[in-house]
Amino acid sequence: MRVLMVASECYPLVKTGGLADVVGALPAALAADGCASRVMLPAYPSVLARLADARPVMREDDVFGGPGTLLSARGEGGLDVLALDAPHLFARDGNPYLGPDGRDWPDNHRRYAALCAMAARYADAPPDGWAPDIVHCHDWQAGLVPVYRMRATRRPPVVFTIHNIGFPGLFPAAAVAELGLPPERFAPDGFEYYGHLSFLKAGLVFSDRLTTVSPTYARELLTPRFGMGFEGVLAARAADLTGILNGIDDATWNPAADAHLAAPYDAARLDGKAADRAALQAETGLDPDPAALLACVVSRLTDQKGLDLLAEALPVLLDGGGQLALLGSGVAEMEDAFHALAAAHPGRVSVRIGYDEALSHRLVAGADAIVVPSRFEPCGLTQLIGLRYGTIPIVARTGGLADSVIDANVAALQAGVATGFVFEPVDAEGMRHALRRALAAFADRTAWRGMIQAAMRQPVGWTRSAAQYRALYNDLAPNAKDSGP
Ligand code: ADP
Ligand code: GLC
Repeated sequence: MRVLMVASECYPLVKTGGLADVVGALPAALAADGCASRVMLPAYPSVLARLADARPVMREDDVFGGPGTLLSARGEGGLDVLALDAPHLFARDGNPYLGPDGRDWPDNHRRYAALCAMAARYADAPPDGWAPDIVHCHDWQAGLVPVYRMRATRRPPVVFTIHNIGFPGLFPAAAVAELGLPPERFAPDGFEYYGHLSFLKAGLVFSDRLTTVSPTYARELLTPRFGMGFEGVLAARAADLTGILNGIDDATWNPAADAHLAAPYDAARLDGKAADRAALQAETGLDPDPAALLACVVSRLTDQKGLDLLAEALPVLLDGGGQLALLGSGVAEMEDAFHALAAAHPGRVSVRIGYDEALSHRLVAGADAIVVPSRFEPCGLTQLIGLRYGTIPIVARTGGLADSVIDANVAALQAGVATGFVFEPVDAEGMRHALRRALAAFADRTAWRGMIQAAMRQPVGWTRSAAQYRALYNDLAPNAKDSGP
């Protein structure tokens, strides 16, 4: 079985969020299951810099204004990559989607249409003979693949995964002609979305199967609140939509062998975690207080993530003797609000604005709890990382957060399976209540230790979910041959 993944980011080559983690980790998990994958993505400068021995496999003279070459390479960790080198579209440093002014690049429709067109062409007639049995597209940037597939002769089934419905990939109607899309499909039952072209809708309407990244989000998506205008389209395709919970790469995220930590640890040797905690307090300027509940956040700072609720509820944590260490970046007002909180509570609240992978490891290892108060969360990965590191998640009851954390209610505590605190309603009062519960549990050292053990026992790797993707691929391509591990 050969799967061509198409996505705009892939860890460790380029990453802005969890999409990259998933696209980077799923291929290795699938390989163990006899399924070979290649990831097609744009050759941004950061990607080119990390690909040794890339060789051209396909060339087009004109991909929306310049030549495009598909480079084949073996990336770190054995990841097979097909990078679309089209300098007029992708030779730009920094965030893949945004220009220096912080706005979307004005030619994003051409950039990602080029990726989709190249993926469809490659799947149709791969010059190197690697004919995929399945094309697996991720989020709006890959949404036009099944449209460009229409003019191909070889048409492998397309799976489309929704990582976040909040990004519809909308462009003016004029883009339809510019991108060479079939004009008759610019209609409500095609890729038209209220007078605009939507790449996401193209993926939702024309792919053979749809998945999203948790069972709860799959259900939520059918409601107006979470479907964000696509609930009707999704209702029409409900029979083809499944939720498969993400995993994390348990080699990248392994407290027993994490080079970023002051001291490695595992469930049987938690003294390392205490050392990491002390090191983290020193590094972030928090008081060296062993009795404080140290909560952390690693997140994009956007409305989705609900961190304004944490800011509002913060007095409960601080009055309970707790501390907060936050790492994140995003909306300027939210960055400013957290800076102000840090200034108001020196030694108790530490805020680092920016993107820092090494610090994110030290935060999750050193903290006692990780807070994820999202208003919606298709899956969420940081609560899974928290579980793996024995760092108790305090999460909103939505999407993948609801599917991955076992609330510390009485029954779960008695059964020894509670792994975190799950709250609703998702508002400041709900957040306050969850913080109070966490503080009370933290004060009971035996109960807290039991939760750490249960959290670290919970499987958060890819094994189970990769098997679910594999079953879906088998269903769509029953005659594909096993590629061997
Ligand atoms: P989303 O994709 O919606 O941002 P996820 O929880 O799925 O949320 O994935 C976020 C990923 O990005 C995680 O791997 C997390 O550790 C990482 N991350 C988010 N913000 C930062 C940051 N400021 N510094 C380092 N890593 C971050
Ligand atoms: C999106 C979602 C996040 C999910 C990630 C990977 O960025 O916001 O919840 O974990 O995709 O699927």
